[in-house]
Formats: sequence, C-alpha cells, structure tokens
Amino acid sequence: MKRKILVTAALPYANGDIHLGHMLGYIQTDIWVRFQRAQGNQCYFAWSSDAHGTPIMLRAQQEGVEPEMLVDRMQSAHAADFQEFSVSYDNFSSTHAESNRLQVEDIYRRLDQAGHIERRTITQLYDPEERMFLPDRFIRGTCPNCRTEDQYGDACEACGKTYDPTDLIDPRSVVSGSVPVPRESEHYFFKLSAFEEPLKAWLQAGTLQDEVTNKLREWFTDGLRDWDISRDAPYFGFEIPGAPGKYFYVWVDAPIGYASSFQEICDRDGLNFEDWWQPNADTELYHFIGKDIIYFHTLFWPAMLHGAGMRTPTSVFAHGFLTVNGAKMSKSRGTFIKARTYLDRLNPDHLRYYYAAKLGTGLSDIDLNLEDFVQRVNADLVGKVINIASRSAGFIQKRFDGRLAQRLDDEALYREFLDADRSIVDAFEARNFQKAIRRIMAMADRANRYIDEHKPWQMIKEPGQEAKVQAVCTQGLNLFRVLMTWLAPVIPATAEKASAFLNIDLTAWHTIGEPLLDTAIDPFKPLMMRVDPDRVADMVEASKESLQATAESGETAALDLAPEITIEDFAKVDLRVVKILNAEAVEGADKLLRLTLDLGGETRQVFAGIKSAYDPADLTGRLTVMVANLQPRKMRFGMSEGMVLAAGPGGQDLFILSPDDGARPGLRVS
Ligand code: 2FM
Ligand code: ZN
Repeated sequence: MKRKILVTAALPYANGDIHLGHMLGYIQTDIWVRFQRAQGNQCYFAWSSDAHGTPIMLRAQQEGVEPEMLVDRMQSAHAADFQEFSVSYDNFSSTHAESNRLQVEDIYRRLDQAGHIERRTITQLYDPEERMFLPDRFIRGTCPNCRTEDQYGDACEACGKTYDPTDLIDPRSVVSGSVPVPRESEHYFFKLSAFEEPLKAWLQAGTLQDEVTNKLREWFTDGLRDWDISRDAPYFGFEIPGAPGKYFYVWVDAPIGYASSFQEICDRDGLNFEDWWQPNADTELYHFIGKDIIYFHTLFWPAMLHGAGMRTPTSVFAHGFLTVNGAKMSKSRGTFIKARTYLDRLNPDHLRYYYAAKLGTGLSDIDLNLEDFVQRVNADLVGKVINIASRSAGFIQKRFDGRLAQRLDDEALYREFLDADRSIVDAFEARNFQKAIRRIMAMADRANRYIDEHKPWQMIKEPGQEAKVQAVCTQGLNLFRVLMTWLAPVIPATAEKASAFLNIDLTAWHTIGEPLLDTAIDPFKPLMMRVDPDRVADMVEASKESLQATAESGETAALDLAPEITIEDFAKVDLRVVKILNAEAVEGADKLLRLTLDLGGETRQVFAGIKSAYDPADLTGRLTVMVANLQPRKMRFGMSEGMVLAAGPGGQDLFILSPDDGARPGLRVS
C-alpha cells in the first residue's frame, strides 16, 4: 500500500549563508524523500526559512534594513543553493509567513485554553542603552566559577560550567557594550512538566534512535522544566495574542513552521491538512535534524502538539555534525566552505554521493576528507558506474543503430541484481545510506567484471560475433540501468541525464524487474566529469579568510558577504549624489530617520536606519550617495523611495558618505 509520508528538514536560519555542514542534513533528507517517492509512496517535503529571533533582528539593524527585507533576501539565496544541490522540497516557506502566524496563534490558543500556559514574573539582564532584554548569548563577562574573562552569559568555554547570566562577574552587553542591569518582566511559560507521561508514552511507541532514547531518559531523570516561550519587545517575531509587547520565542514558531509549510502545500495541491495532523492520522511524520536540536524536537515539539490535540511525530532522525579533513570547519584553513563556493566550482551530485557513502543511522560526526572525496567519487562514480555505460553504449550506437538486443546475454546475472534489490531498499529505508552504497558498488564491480570477461572490444573483431556483442552490451546497459535506479535518489541530476540517454524513467523503481530490450537508446554523452583536484584546492583557497579577519571574527562569526555579483549586476545599480534637504526622527521607530533627498530636479523620501549615529539636525544640507533606482517599498511609516549608502559596524559608528565639494545632487557615481 502506498504510504503517506511527510518529511521535514531543520529550518535554516535566515541570517547566514548555507555551508557544507548544513548541506549534510539537507542532502540526507532529500535522498530519503526521493527514495520514498521512487518507491511509489506519497511523500511530501515541507520546509521553511527560520526567520525570527534576536540575531536576525540585530543583523537587520546593522544593515539598516527592515528584518523582513533581510529575511527575504536570505530566503532567496538559500533557495537558489538548495535547488542547485537538487533538494526536492515541495515547499520552502518562511516562518514569518501569514500561514505560520495563523498556525502559531491557533496552537497557542489551544494550549492556553487547555491550561498549559502560565504567566510568571522573572528577572533578566537588560541593556539600558539599547533598551532591550539580552539573550544569554548577547552577554559576556567573567566566569563566576573559574574567573576566565569574556565568557558567554550561559556557559563558560574554559571550565564548562553553566550558570545564570545574572551570576556573571562584570557583565557587558554584546550589543552596546554597556553594563546590563537586572530587570523584571512578565513571561509566558509552557508547562512542559505536565507532559512527562504522554512524552514517555510517545518514546515507548516510537522508533527513535538509541542515542536519542538514552538522552530522553536522562532528561526525564533530571526532571522536565517549564519552558519560557515569550520574549519582550524589541523582538522580530509574532506578537502573542492579547499580550502587547510580548513575542513568541523563535523556537515556538520554528517547528510550527513545518505544519504551516505543509498547510500551504495542502492549499496548493488540494490535500486535507487535518487528515495528516489529527492524532490518529494514517500518515507518517518525520523530522530530520542535527544532534544539537534534539531537545526541541523530542520534548517541546511533541508536547506542544499533544497539548494542542494534534498528532506527534512518527520519529525524529538526528544526524551528527560535519568535520572537514578531520577537524571542525575552520575559516583560517579554508574548510568553512559555503554552499555557493562549492557550487561555483564542483558538481553537486559529487557531494551528495560522498555524503551518502558516509551516512549511517547514528549520531556520529561525518568527515569530509577532501582528498578522499576526489579519490572516492572518481573511483566509484566515474570509474565504476559511468564506465559501464560508456563501455557498452558505443557499440550499440555504432554497430546496431542505437538499438538494444531482443534478449539479455546473461539472465542469471540480471536476476542476481534483482536479488540484491531487497537489501538495498531496506538500507535506504533505514537511512543506512552507507550500507546501500556499499551494496550498489559491489554490484557495479560485478557488472564491470562481466564486461571485462566478455571483452566486447575484442569480440567485435571476430566474424559472426555481432549478435553476441549486441547482447553483451545490452546486458551491460541493463545492469547500468539498475545501478542508476538505485543511485537516482543520491545523484538525481546525473540520473536525469542517464534517463534521457536510456529513454526511461529512472525514478520508477518498480520497473527494474523488466529489462530494457529491443528498444532505441540515445547517443551516449559523458554523464559526469571527474572531480578536478585543482578545483577542490581553489575552493579551499577561496574559503580562506585572512588571519586578521579570522582573529577578529573569533573563528565563529563569518565574514558575511552577500552573494557575489557580476559587473553587469553592479551596472544595474544607479548611484546618485543627493542633498539631504531634511532629516527627522520617525515616531514609533527606534532606529529610523526620515530623509528628504534632492536628486537634482526630483525629491525623494527615504527611511534610513541611522538614528543611532546621527542627530537629524547635523544632516540637513549634507551630501550623500543613494541607490536611486531601487524599487520603492511601502513601510509602516510611509513609502521609502530608495536607499542611502552607509558604512560601519552599526550603533554610533555608521557613516553616510559625504563626497567633497565638487559633488552636486544628481551626479552619477561610478
Ligand atoms: O538550529 C537551527 O538552525 C534552527 N534554525 C532549526 C530550526 S528547526 C525547527 F524546529 F524549525
Ligand atoms: Zn569558567
């Protein structure tokens, strides 16, 4: 029977570029989804951009843009990366989408009505300069335990001790550098402690990985603590209904994004959401995640779903982290590799294959060893699999007019391949891709041995052997077809090319029982190039940050450049010198100034996030540079008709450029 399966991958945060570490989880998810679809199951992949939270809000402020704009930009860049890596999601929404707001409000209302939400006053550190409460990661100070300086607000990297940020000695706000002060505020709590029994029942009924089950048992032993689900303004998120100035913590609306992304699929494809999300639905729900977010997915999320009267996940599949060349990804070594840097130089299917060859069912970390990557992809995919086709196709094309023989040369061998199918299907199903690949490559070796034994290149020279050559090459291509059907979830772009060459659909797994006989194939074109080690070296070089930049970034914060643009892209930007006719604060906006700009014959209104750096009175009469052909944008306070350029890290250090005296409004900047 056709299974109904809904799959999700962890939602990427919309404030940074996708790197090869992220791609490990997404590729794992996609292989499984493609495998399920190839098996004939109805399998959806619902996904979203994780848009909310303090880091995104602060980054948008630094860039002087509204968070919506940053999030939209990142979502498009991420989607482009994913598509090039052939990630076959059915929907890639945003947790800031209206569909998610509705879903979040609905689930919250159900939880509140059932008595699962409690309000409590707590004390937190507050940045008096920025007028905001500080998340733990935005406070640094001296560890109260070992006295190491410059530690985060929640844990010490030197001695490993966790603590409350209010215990830090000499705390500082990372945002403004000021000394934070304790301040009271009412917060909303989800009463997780009340869900111990249903969570234990879920654990018993489910099929969680052993390591995950063990972690859950530990957490139960430690006792479940209620979960603070609110954040005070300013915060980029959804406001809690009936609680002005209080926002849902990002981790509330992020997993709900799985459901709302699926809701959008339902609206689009005419499915019934309830059929999939009611407690006794006959559907399966799986979340692929990294091992760092198990707590959220195995405690908070199932408890929230249960409390809201919805179904819980069938399982949660956690994977380990990625190391590169045996170590944590590093900017100075050039192993912190962005998806885009890879895509600009190398074949996405190659990475997909390498990850598949390494992924097992557990939580251990996966190493991308770049030398091994080159060697393995070239040996397995090019040297073994593609080689079978290239060795067989030429004769069929040249000697038999592209037509396959009417019979196989060795039916028993074909049967051997079909016999291997069960264990390969089982390995894919169990996410043991490593095992599946091992089996597939063993069969590829078998196919190559068959061709080596029959030597069609010799036989063709012998009189009367024509039919035998056609049958042998037909056999070779049929074995290649089975191998490519197995590999199609792993290397889909290559499988698509092979489909065109063989004139069949390689994603229809159930058809492999029927060999391809007496049918025409297309001329063989190389399906895949070898990995060029020079390109790998170039990718590492391009990923290297200067030592100084690395030191400044402390090895953790990326130098976050926007995606590269061409000179043609740049030529589209119309930069003009403008005179600031008027600058004034905007009521209700902490960061913005309303600028009236003279372009030399035209006047524009632009909102700029530079209030922290400039007194409006000092700006009037000065010259600056603006992007004059930016699409006007409707903001809460009115239309913004362009954007002024500013440089600097933010806060008080923001500089709007002021060209020298020779400049005049309207002058084109080039
Ligand atoms: O850890 C992360 O990168 C989060 N953005 C994952 C969110 S997954 C979910 F629950 F939505
Ligand atoms: Zn310490």
